[in-house]
Amino acid sequence: MSTIPFPLAPEPDDDACERGRLMFAAETTFVKGVVAMDGLPPPDRLEICFAGRSNVGKSSLINALTGRKNLARASNTPGRTQEINYFAAGDRYLVDLPGYGYAEAPVATVEKWQRLLKAYLSGRQTLRRAFVLIDMRHGVKPVDDEIMTLLDRSAVTFQAVLTKADKLNRAEHEKILAQVRAALQKHPAAYPELVVTSSEKGDGIETLRAIIATMA
Ligand code: GTP
Ligand code: MG
Repeated sequence: MSTIPFPLAPEPDDDACERGRLMFAAETTFVKGVVAMDGLPPPDRLEICFAGRSNVGKSSLINALTGRKNLARASNTPGRTQEINYFAAGDRYLVDLPGYGYAEAPVATVEKWQRLLKAYLSGRQTLRRAFVLIDMRHGVKPVDDEIMTLLDRSAVTFQAVLTKADKLNRAEHEKILAQVRAALQKHPAAYPELVVTSSEKGDGIETLRAIIATMA
Protein backbone atom coordinates (compact mmCIF):
# COMPACT_ATOMS: atom_id res chain seq x y z
CA MET A 1 0.00 0.00 0.00
CA SER A 2 1.44 3.37 -0.89
CA THR A 3 0.49 6.55 0.90
CA ILE A 4 1.23 10.06 -0.30
CA PRO A 5 3.79 11.76 1.91
CA PHE A 6 2.60 15.11 3.22
CA PRO A 7 -1.08 14.83 2.32
CA LEU A 8 -3.34 17.86 2.48
CA ALA A 9 -4.70 18.48 5.97
CA PRO A 10 -8.15 16.92 6.20
CA GLU A 11 -11.25 19.11 6.41
CA PRO A 12 -11.67 19.97 10.09
CA ASP A 13 -14.61 18.35 11.87
CA ASP A 14 -17.56 20.48 13.07
CA ASP A 15 -16.15 20.98 16.54
CA ALA A 16 -12.74 22.15 15.25
CA CYS A 17 -14.45 24.44 12.71
CA GLU A 18 -16.53 25.98 15.44
CA ARG A 19 -13.52 26.54 17.68
CA GLY A 20 -11.68 28.20 14.78
CA ARG A 21 -14.69 30.31 13.92
CA LEU A 22 -15.12 31.48 17.50
CA MET A 23 -11.46 32.31 17.97
CA PHE A 24 -11.40 34.52 14.90
CA ALA A 25 -14.90 35.97 15.38
CA ALA A 26 -13.54 37.71 18.45
CA GLU A 27 -11.42 40.73 17.69
CA THR A 28 -7.78 40.11 16.88
CA THR A 29 -5.68 42.98 18.16
CA PHE A 30 -2.29 44.33 17.24
CA VAL A 31 0.00 43.98 20.26
CA LYS A 32 3.34 45.41 19.15
CA GLY A 33 6.03 45.56 16.50
CA VAL A 34 9.36 44.22 17.65
CA VAL A 35 12.78 45.11 16.22
CA ALA A 36 15.06 43.27 18.65
CA MET A 37 14.87 40.07 20.66
CA ASP A 38 14.69 41.96 23.96
CA GLY A 39 11.49 43.64 22.75
CA LEU A 40 9.52 40.38 22.50
CA PRO A 41 6.44 40.24 24.73
CA PRO A 42 6.64 37.98 27.81
CA PRO A 43 6.50 34.32 26.73
CA ASP A 44 3.22 33.74 28.55
CA ARG A 45 1.15 32.04 25.87
CA LEU A 46 1.37 29.75 22.92
CA GLU A 47 2.41 31.40 19.68
CA ILE A 48 2.32 30.58 15.99
CA CYS A 49 4.34 32.45 13.40
CA PHE A 50 4.07 33.06 9.67
CA ALA A 51 7.42 32.85 7.90
CA GLY A 52 8.20 32.92 4.21
CA ARG A 53 9.91 34.69 1.36
CA SER A 54 9.21 38.32 0.89
CA ASN A 55 5.88 38.87 -0.90
CA VAL A 56 4.67 35.26 -0.40
CA GLY A 57 1.51 36.54 1.31
CA LYS A 58 2.16 36.30 5.08
CA SER A 59 0.40 39.54 6.01
CA SER A 60 -2.46 38.85 3.59
CA LEU A 61 -3.00 35.44 5.17
CA ILE A 62 -3.23 36.95 8.66
CA ASN A 63 -5.76 39.44 7.32
CA ALA A 64 -7.78 36.64 5.71
CA LEU A 65 -7.77 34.60 8.93
CA THR A 66 -8.96 37.53 11.00
CA GLY A 67 -11.38 38.77 8.37
CA ARG A 68 -9.82 42.20 8.54
CA LYS A 69 -8.39 43.77 5.42
CA ASN A 70 -5.66 45.89 6.93
CA LEU A 71 -4.79 44.44 10.29
CA ALA A 72 -1.40 43.26 9.05
CA ARG A 73 0.00 45.56 6.41
CA ALA A 74 0.15 43.83 3.05
CA SER A 75 1.69 45.33 -0.04
CA ASN A 76 2.92 44.81 -3.55
CA THR A 77 6.27 46.14 -2.46
CA PRO A 78 8.45 43.27 -1.22
CA GLY A 79 9.93 43.92 2.20
CA ARG A 80 6.79 45.60 3.53
CA THR A 81 6.84 43.93 6.93
CA GLN A 82 10.01 45.11 8.61
CA GLU A 83 9.33 44.16 12.21
CA ILE A 84 8.14 41.10 14.07
CA ASN A 85 4.47 41.99 14.46
CA TYR A 86 2.50 40.45 17.31
CA PHE A 87 -1.25 39.98 17.15
CA ALA A 88 -3.40 38.52 19.92
CA ALA A 89 -6.09 36.08 18.79
CA GLY A 90 -7.96 34.46 21.67
CA ASP A 91 -5.38 32.98 24.04
CA ARG A 92 -2.54 32.88 21.51
CA TYR A 93 -0.21 35.10 19.61
CA LEU A 94 -0.07 35.19 15.84
CA VAL A 95 3.27 36.51 14.66
CA ASP A 96 3.82 38.15 11.28
CA LEU A 97 7.49 38.00 10.34
CA PRO A 98 9.58 40.03 7.92
CA GLY A 99 10.14 38.14 4.67
CA TYR A 100 13.43 36.58 3.73
CA GLY A 101 15.16 36.30 0.37
CA TYR A 102 14.50 39.90 -0.59
CA ALA A 103 17.56 41.31 -2.31
CA GLU A 104 16.46 44.86 -3.11
CA ALA A 105 16.69 46.45 0.34
CA PRO A 106 20.00 47.92 1.55
CA VAL A 107 22.38 45.14 2.61
CA ALA A 108 22.70 46.41 6.20
CA THR A 109 18.91 46.46 6.60
CA VAL A 110 18.48 42.98 5.17
CA GLU A 111 21.18 41.63 7.47
CA LYS A 112 19.51 43.17 10.49
CA TRP A 113 16.11 41.60 9.66
CA GLN A 114 17.64 38.26 8.86
CA ARG A 115 19.56 38.15 12.11
CA LEU A 116 16.42 38.99 14.06
CA LEU A 117 14.35 36.48 12.09
CA LYS A 118 16.84 33.68 12.71
CA ALA A 119 17.22 34.55 16.39
CA TYR A 120 13.44 34.49 16.75
CA LEU A 121 12.92 31.22 14.87
CA SER A 122 15.63 29.41 16.80
CA GLY A 123 15.18 30.95 20.24
CA ARG A 124 11.54 31.58 21.09
CA GLN A 125 10.47 29.08 23.73
CA THR A 126 6.75 29.56 23.32
CA LEU A 127 6.80 29.21 19.53
CA ARG A 128 4.55 26.20 19.07
CA ARG A 129 4.56 25.93 15.29
CA ALA A 130 5.90 27.93 12.37
CA PHE A 131 3.83 28.12 9.25
CA VAL A 132 6.30 28.30 6.38
CA LEU A 133 4.50 29.88 3.46
CA ILE A 134 5.38 28.79 -0.05
CA ASP A 135 4.15 30.65 -3.11
CA MET A 136 2.30 28.09 -5.22
CA ARG A 137 3.72 29.56 -8.39
CA HIS A 138 7.28 29.03 -7.28
CA GLY A 139 7.51 26.04 -4.93
CA VAL A 140 10.30 25.55 -2.39
CA LYS A 141 13.36 27.69 -3.18
CA PRO A 142 16.88 27.34 -1.71
CA VAL A 143 16.19 30.16 0.81
CA ASP A 144 13.11 28.27 2.05
CA ASP A 145 15.22 25.18 2.42
CA GLU A 146 17.69 27.17 4.51
CA ILE A 147 14.95 28.35 6.87
CA MET A 148 13.57 24.81 7.12
CA THR A 149 17.03 23.56 8.06
CA LEU A 150 17.25 26.21 10.77
CA LEU A 151 13.88 25.03 12.11
CA ASP A 152 15.05 21.39 12.02
CA ARG A 153 18.11 22.33 14.09
CA SER A 154 16.02 24.33 16.52
CA ALA A 155 13.45 21.51 16.81
CA VAL A 156 10.61 23.87 15.86
CA THR A 157 7.83 22.04 14.05
CA PHE A 158 6.91 23.79 10.84
CA GLN A 159 3.93 23.32 8.57
CA ALA A 160 4.10 24.21 4.88
CA VAL A 161 1.25 26.45 3.76
CA LEU A 162 0.91 27.01 0.04
CA THR A 163 -0.27 30.52 -0.90
CA LYS A 164 -1.90 32.18 -3.91
CA ALA A 165 -3.62 28.96 -5.03
CA ASP A 166 -6.01 31.11 -7.09
CA LYS A 167 -3.20 31.93 -9.50
CA LEU A 168 -2.82 28.34 -10.76
CA ASN A 169 -4.94 25.63 -12.34
CA ARG A 170 -5.40 22.10 -10.99
CA ALA A 171 -2.61 20.50 -13.05
CA GLU A 172 -0.15 23.17 -11.95
CA HIS A 173 -1.20 22.59 -8.32
CA GLU A 174 -0.24 18.92 -8.54
CA LYS A 175 3.13 19.69 -10.08
CA ILE A 176 4.06 22.17 -7.33
CA LEU A 177 2.70 19.91 -4.59
CA ALA A 178 5.00 17.13 -5.81
CA GLN A 179 7.99 19.49 -5.68
CA VAL A 180 7.06 20.69 -2.19
CA ARG A 181 6.56 17.13 -0.90
CA ALA A 182 9.94 16.06 -2.20
CA ALA A 183 11.61 19.07 -0.55
CA LEU A 184 9.87 18.45 2.80
CA GLN A 185 11.04 14.85 2.97
CA LYS A 186 14.52 16.10 3.85
CA HIS A 187 13.23 17.96 6.91
CA PRO A 188 12.59 16.12 10.16
CA ALA A 189 10.79 19.16 11.66
CA ALA A 190 8.19 19.26 8.85
CA TYR A 191 4.64 18.66 10.06
CA PRO A 192 3.16 15.82 7.99
CA GLU A 193 0.23 17.74 6.47
CA LEU A 194 0.04 20.64 4.02
CA VAL A 195 -2.50 23.41 3.65
CA VAL A 196 -3.30 25.02 0.30
CA THR A 197 -4.63 28.55 0.66
CA SER A 198 -5.83 31.59 -1.22
CA SER A 199 -6.19 34.74 0.84
CA GLU A 200 -7.94 36.23 -2.15
CA LYS A 201 -10.60 33.51 -2.56
CA GLY A 202 -10.70 32.08 0.95
CA ASP A 203 -9.44 28.56 0.18
CA GLY A 204 -7.93 26.83 3.21
CA ILE A 205 -8.81 29.65 5.60
CA GLU A 206 -11.37 27.71 7.61
CA THR A 207 -8.95 24.78 7.85
CA LEU A 208 -6.13 27.01 9.04
CA ARG A 209 -8.36 28.69 11.61
CA ALA A 210 -9.30 25.29 12.99
CA ILE A 211 -5.66 24.17 13.07
CA ILE A 212 -4.67 27.30 15.01
CA ALA A 213 -7.59 27.13 17.42
CA THR A 214 -7.16 23.43 18.26
CA MET A 215 -3.39 23.41 18.64
CA ALA A 216 -2.71 22.33 22.20
P1 GTP B 1 6.55 40.97 3.08
O1 GTP B 1 5.93 41.59 4.28
O2 GTP B 1 7.12 41.96 2.13
O3 GTP B 1 7.52 39.89 3.39
O4 GTP B 1 5.35 40.30 2.20
P2 GTP B 1 4.17 39.32 2.68
O5 GTP B 1 4.63 37.92 2.65
O6 GTP B 1 3.57 39.81 3.95
O7 GTP B 1 3.13 39.47 1.47
P3 GTP B 1 1.79 40.34 1.41
O8 GTP B 1 0.74 39.74 2.26
O9 GTP B 1 2.15 41.76 1.63
O10 GTP B 1 1.34 40.07 -0.09
C1 GTP B 1 2.17 40.37 -1.20
C2 GTP B 1 1.32 40.52 -2.44
O11 GTP B 1 0.70 39.29 -2.79
C3 GTP B 1 0.16 41.53 -2.29
O12 GTP B 1 0.04 42.25 -3.49
C4 GTP B 1 -1.05 40.64 -2.07
O13 GTP B 1 -2.25 41.22 -2.49
C5 GTP B 1 -0.71 39.42 -2.91
N1 GTP B 1 -1.37 38.20 -2.40
C6 GTP B 1 -1.25 37.69 -1.15
N2 GTP B 1 -1.99 36.58 -1.00
C7 GTP B 1 -2.61 36.37 -2.19
C8 GTP B 1 -3.51 35.36 -2.69
O14 GTP B 1 -3.94 34.41 -1.99
N3 GTP B 1 -3.90 35.47 -3.98
C9 GTP B 1 -3.47 36.48 -4.78
N4 GTP B 1 -3.90 36.48 -6.04
N5 GTP B 1 -2.63 37.44 -4.36
C10 GTP B 1 -2.20 37.39 -3.08
MG1 MG C 1 4.19 41.20 5.29
